[in-house]
Amino acid sequence: MTLFTFGSINADHTYLVPHLPGPGETLAARSLTTGLGGKGANQSVAAARAGADVVHIGAVGRDGGWALDRLAGYGVQTHAIVQIDTPTGHAIICVDPRGENQIIVYPGANRALTPDQLTTMDAAEPGDWLLLQNETNLQVEAAQRARAAGASVAYSAAPFEVDAVRAILPMTDLLLLNAVEAAQLCDALGVTLADLPVPRVVVTKGADGVDWHEGGKTVTVPAHPVDVVDTTGAGDTFAGYLVAGLSQGMTPDDALRLAAAAAALKVTRAGTADAIPTRAQVDAFLA
Ligand code: RIB
Ligand code: NA
Repeated sequence: MTLFTFGSINADHTYLVPHLPGPGETLAARSLTTGLGGKGANQSVAAARAGADVVHIGAVGRDGGWALDRLAGYGVQTHAIVQIDTPTGHAIICVDPRGENQIIVYPGANRALTPDQLTTMDAAEPGDWLLLQNETNLQVEAAQRARAAGASVAYSAAPFEVDAVRAILPMTDLLLLNAVEAAQLCDALGVTLADLPVPRVVVTKGADGVDWHEGGKTVTVPAHPVDVVDTTGAGDTFAGYLVAGLSQGMTPDDALRLAAAAAALKVTRAGTADAIPTRAQVDAFLA
């Protein structure tokens, strides 16, 4: 089955810093690495590494040819990514010695997607998935289009924006939240997790593992204790691996275990898309 990712593509500039900068502070970084990022691109790379057939829908600038090459190198199909006159998105990421981060995102081309790009999804079939997040425009239209074609919609509500989440919930089959986002969403809607109008809700809780809520029941998969280097993109790695597993017919339990291990391995490495482990590495980690 095909996994469509509708999402952002960024150049990530990752600075390892002695501590996260405060207001008015000038801080020298210990290192700088530049690589592929953006929540959408990270999710596509993770899904492709997990073995899914991945088609990415998105946009980069005229300066973004390298990102297309990089995605293709990871096995992501790039024919539905357009190159436009708006610059490629980028992110400035500071990572402290504990692996905590601070991110500034310049959306650029990611927020200039056009409705004609959604026609890619008309080829979707029941059993296919659409995976999306909050770093583009047209998320609701994309979800509607996927649903109309019979595909299932997985939505990672990051970066969290309550109005965006509210709009897309009725079209969501699988909602992915971290613990902070889950609390924000329940608070904003005045409901408990069990009352969210979505059939399946997955909450990642860092060291406390992952909860899968479905039909009034909760399954918890434990986290893997690892040495934290850089948590950036761990949520995207989890999302990509999880939906890839589901799109390949894995049981939720098996897909969750695979995704949790992939995210744990990512956390031990600096960088984002380029630091996402291969399926063979995840299998070796689990063995
Ligand atoms: O989730 C991590 C991602 O958020 C980074 O790759 C950065 O580009 C931002 O989009
Ligand atoms: Na993330």
